[in-house]
Amino acid sequence: MSLRLGDVAPNFQATTSEGAIDFYEYLGNSWGVLFSHPADYTPVCTTELGKTALLKTEFDKRNVKVLALSVDPLDKHKGWINDINETQHVTVDFPIIADPDKTVANLYGMIHPNASETFTVRSLFIIGPDKKVKLMITYPASTGRNFYEVLRVIDSLQLTANYSVATPADWKEGEDVIVVPAVSTEDAIAKFPKGVKVVKPYLRYTPQPDK
Ligand code: BEZ
Repeated sequence: MSLRLGDVAPNFQATTSEGAIDFYEYLGNSWGVLFSHPADYTPVCTTELGKTALLKTEFDKRNVKVLALSVDPLDKHKGWINDINETQHVTVDFPIIADPDKTVANLYGMIHPNASETFTVRSLFIIGPDKKVKLMITYPASTGRNFYEVLRVIDSLQLTANYSVATPADWKEGEDVIVVPAVSTEDAIAKFPKGVKVVKPYLRYTPQPDK
């Protein structure tokens, strides 16, 4: 059975470019982003890992630990990291799992046999501090992911975790958010002192509460 939202993200031990890790120990009480890419020394993957390294401080600010994976072996990762650093003008300082026997890839359903029998697709999981899966996305090998979108989703998830709000389509940090249906308008007015705009009884906005 493949993983679904709300499931506990399975723990694993793995060899990585930063040494041996236990996934849960690596995460500690942080949020996590675990993402696979098809192969080392490939162009789209090189840009994705470079972008992740570039945005590492943004992940750190949000208390998120990032962790990449491919089914290539560790020695290959190490040489390729030098290329990523050189070509993307970054320093990759997060672990890349070497998963040649596909243990972690299979645990997380990162191999989609009708796309490729051998390589992982571009799977990405956001995992909460409770170790539950909060978001899953799957992209094909030919399309690099948008890591600003991953940060945007983390901002939304963290707001939802801390306040009774959801975020509308295309929401960006600082814009109004939506009061969740479970909160009555009367309670929302008490809960959100910056104000509640009632467009319809089920469509109510409030300024971002933590701004
Ligand atoms: C890439 O990362 O560039 C790539 C990997 C596998 C298939 C196509 C593109």
